[in-house]
Amino acid sequence: MDDRDAALLRAHEHAAAWLDSLATRPVPPRAGVADVVAALGTDLPDGPSPAADVVDLLATACGPGLTAMPSGRFYGMVIGGSHPAALAADWLTSAWDQNSALRTVTPAHTAVEDVTSAWLLELLGLPASGAVGFVTGATTANFTALAAARGEVLRRAGWDVRRDGLTGAPRVRVLVGAERHESVDLALSYLGLGAPEVVAADDQGRVSVVALEEALADPPSPSDDRGSTSRDLASTSRDRGSAPAPTIVVLQAGNVHSGAFDPFGPAVEVAHRHGAWVHVDGAFGLFAAASPTYRHLVAGYEGADSWATDAHKTLNVPYDCGLAIVADPAPLRAAMGMHGDYLIQSEAGDPLDKVPELSRRGRAFPVWAVLRALGRSGVADLVDGFCRHAATFADAVRALEGEVLHDVVFTQVCAAFGDDARTQDVVRRVLDDGTAWMSGSRWHDRAVLRVSVSSWATTDADVAVSVGALGRAVAATRA
Ligand SMILES: Cc1ncc(COP(=O)(O)O)c(C=O)c1O
Repeated sequence: MDDRDAALLRAHEHAAAWLDSLATRPVPPRAGVADVVAALGTDLPDGPSPAADVVDLLATACGPGLTAMPSGRFYGMVIGGSHPAALAADWLTSAWDQNSALRTVTPAHTAVEDVTSAWLLELLGLPASGAVGFVTGATTANFTALAAARGEVLRRAGWDVRRDGLTGAPRVRVLVGAERHESVDLALSYLGLGAPEVVAADDQGRVSVVALEEALADPPSPSDDRGSTSRDLASTSRDRGSAPAPTIVVLQAGNVHSGAFDPFGPAVEVAHRHGAWVHVDGAFGLFAAASPTYRHLVAGYEGADSWATDAHKTLNVPYDCGLAIVADPAPLRAAMGMHGDYLIQSEAGDPLDKVPELSRRGRAFPVWAVLRALGRSGVADLVDGFCRHAATFADAVRALEGEVLHDVVFTQVCAAFGDDARTQDVVRRVLDDGTAWMSGSRWHDRAVLRVSVSSWATTDADVAVSVGALGRAVAATRA
């Protein structure tokens, strides 16, 4: 056996041992950063080592510091597991090592990307002519789609941002709900658009359409503008009469705390009536559209102009994989496309025209694999299963005399157990117990215990033992 095969075999053995351990191992890591650094050693080696030995060292040094995120008992943040088909395809992606930027140079990946894009658009009920960029995650998907939005609303206002930049450009208004994910603000900051205008949300975290309409009808006057660029503006919608200011409205499918969905039908209608581009951040919630039972949550969202989601959340593809979807491919290509004389580019457009990177791995392979493995009904069952488990957690919280702070409409549950100190104590005890991982947070000015069900691996038995752990934590705080 040569060095390569020995290394791959060892990697397979370590991976299988890790995956086998997930059913029973505690979720939290046993070792901290310093322990892992000590086990790895810090001296840069003077010379080569056999690849298999390197794999062994990596696996044994890192093992204790691994968190069982792909286990069925991890409910922190919004963390999807890795479906076996997607995981195996991800291994092949690394072995094939295709730089997937160009249509004709890596035809296998382009073919898979084309097929996968069409499947995604069909599954999500989005316009079949849309463009899908395979990016690293929802933050980058928000950035990518909002770059298309920025370019297009400025183009309509007679400004070429790619050529002329933002200095002296008409001010782009961006309106977001009060409970949008912070990654939207980060994406806007990358784009030089500054802090957005914040529109009130209701008790579930859904944007208020009345407040959105009022804000759209009443743009800030130049004296409200922040910064010199804004003040130097040639025009706002007020002083230009009826011409609307370049405007982007960001809506949300899936609130990270409550799981709530914005009221897309009326919100999209109001935003479009005011000439705005509508973007939907649906990092985990977009896949509600793939379930006949939960599709009603996104009703009307197909009328938006762009959408961001993750394949590494609800779809259970390994990290890192997000999807930037734009209904009209032209603004996306205008924002992302590039040319290099040394590149063999295609008239039909290349994958690089849809993403911020030039070089990138073949991200469509694992997405294709999970969709091929699950099919339409399998994706729906996946989503329905997450929601069913979330409802079980909510019932358990109530049975433990906790308070569920919102309507449980999707995969998220936020709960409180009396005052903040006690809720935080419950979170700490659940984490110390190690059976399950549920993260703490603050929502509507209260400390909360958050449960996010996002892994294909979660079974009824996982939920039962996790509820048991929660019950022990709550009982201990009673004492
Ligand atoms: C609604 C929403 N948008 C964006 C993100 C950011 O996603 P990512 O971590 O993949 O960049 C998240 C993460 O949980 C989210 O819930």
